[in-house]
Amino acid sequence: MCLLSSFFILLILMTKISYHDLIKEAIVASKNAKANYSNFKVGASLLTASGIVFTGCNIECSSYGLTICAERVAIYKALSEGQDEFVALAIYAEEKAFCPPCGACLQVINDYARDLKILLTDGNNFKEYLMSELLPIAFNVNYLNHDD
Ligand code: THU
Repeated sequence: MCLLSSFFILLILMTKISYHDLIKEAIVASKNAKANYSNFKVGASLLTASGIVFTGCNIECSSYGLTICAERVAIYKALSEGQDEFVALAIYAEEKAFCPPCGACLQVINDYARDLKILLTDGNNFKEYLMSELLPIAFNVNYLNHDD
């Protein structure tokens, strides 16, 4: 096998390993969920282009509408730390396999990471989607331009 193909195989293996680690981080994050009302614990882990992982869990509030999803916690944590280039987001819901992000989170992800890979997991396996597959026709900042 030539050196170049060995390099690419290694690269693919490394990518898979880092996805595996990312999923593990989402599972760990779900343990911190504050889900006293729904009992639906979610964890998310966001891999930045610089290789940093930000995690999030859902945090519910007695005034229900103030609840925030795991995905947005992870994204807002990253943005607030000056990170704004994202590669992949893993999502784990304790009660449901392959749980997708809600519509509100999709809008936020679309605004800040249109090219993101989204990994939905059951804790062992994962299904990989592109952000644009989950929200193909999305509202965005361009629609706010009144001149068009
Ligand atoms: N939730 C998330 O954190 N992420 C999702 O992708 C779906 C829903 C949370 C919000 C709320 O705390 C609970 O799950 C039930 O909706």
